[in-house]
Amino acid sequence: MSYPKVTVVGAGQVGATAAFLLLEKSLADVVLIDVAEGLPQGKALDMMHSRSVEHFGPRVTGTNDYADTAGSDVIVVTAGLARKPGMTRDDLLAANGRIVRSVIEQAAAASPDAIILCVTNPLDIMVDLAWKVSGLPAQRVFGMGGVLDSARFAYFIAAETGVDISKIDALACGAHGDAMVPMPRHSFVDGTRLTDLLSADSVTELCRRTIFGGAEVVSLLKTGSAFYAPAASVVRMVKAILTDSGDVVPSCVRLEGAYGIDGVHMSVPARLGRAGVLEVPELDVDDAERVALQESARTIRTAIETLEGKDA
Ligand code: 2OP
Repeated sequence: MSYPKVTVVGAGQVGATAAFLLLEKSLADVVLIDVAEGLPQGKALDMMHSRSVEHFGPRVTGTNDYADTAGSDVIVVTAGLARKPGMTRDDLLAANGRIVRSVIEQAAAASPDAIILCVTNPLDIMVDLAWKVSGLPAQRVFGMGGVLDSARFAYFIAAETGVDISKIDALACGAHGDAMVPMPRHSFVDGTRLTDLLSADSVTELCRRTIFGGAEVVSLLKTGSAFYAPAASVVRMVKAILTDSGDVVPSCVRLEGAYGIDGVHMSVPARLGRAGVLEVPELDVDDAERVALQESARTIRTAIETLEGKDA
């Protein structure tokens, strides 16, 4: 059986976990690439050793050479420095900007027809950079932020209400950072709107925990940041792409007028398929939500200007 080809750039915690999940779900052959010699090869070999136990079909190859990534269907970019305690995602801006630029130049040259899914932080700004450096249509360059933020929101809602996670449909939009916009009016507990179920104070607290959900993990781990939920979120998006599902998944996409926002990448519900972003179906937002989304977009735009200022 032949599988689609997914390159995962960065053999760190997020990249390697995403690679393993892609194999376990038999979604794709994976090429795991990293600048560190031996790291992707070692992790790939370790994963392949589990193949006779787990019985997954596809294979993983570890490499330091972009030639091995040629012809990929999807390129997942996780390369970059991870946040340390006390560090914001924006502290990573300049350092990860240099890494993402170099990765995209090499990966897009080897796989000109690929979809690029960016995961490196600060996410929204790195997606914008990846899109600009790649020269590809915006439809084919987007990022993983909203799935993870929505997943965290769902987890906190389930914990607060005691309702099974499978009955929670939560949505968080906007920047993948402190300017995130959890959307309680568009989040449901067994079909009931969250805002109709819990007090305003409880909802505010759930939103706060969601916004700082990543930081909470960082402060517990002390070295490094979250990777299980980020990797699962990546695989959710890759599956929607490779299976051409047309599922609406919160994704960091380029907005061109939706919600009154133009020319910024940030997370909103987007329909995903084999061609990438198929559609950005606009939510019915109220005035406060629209303002919050626009304010979130403004913080991303400011960070992009900072990065471009540093480059100049
Ligand atoms: C997170 O939110 C690392 O951005 C990632 O945990």
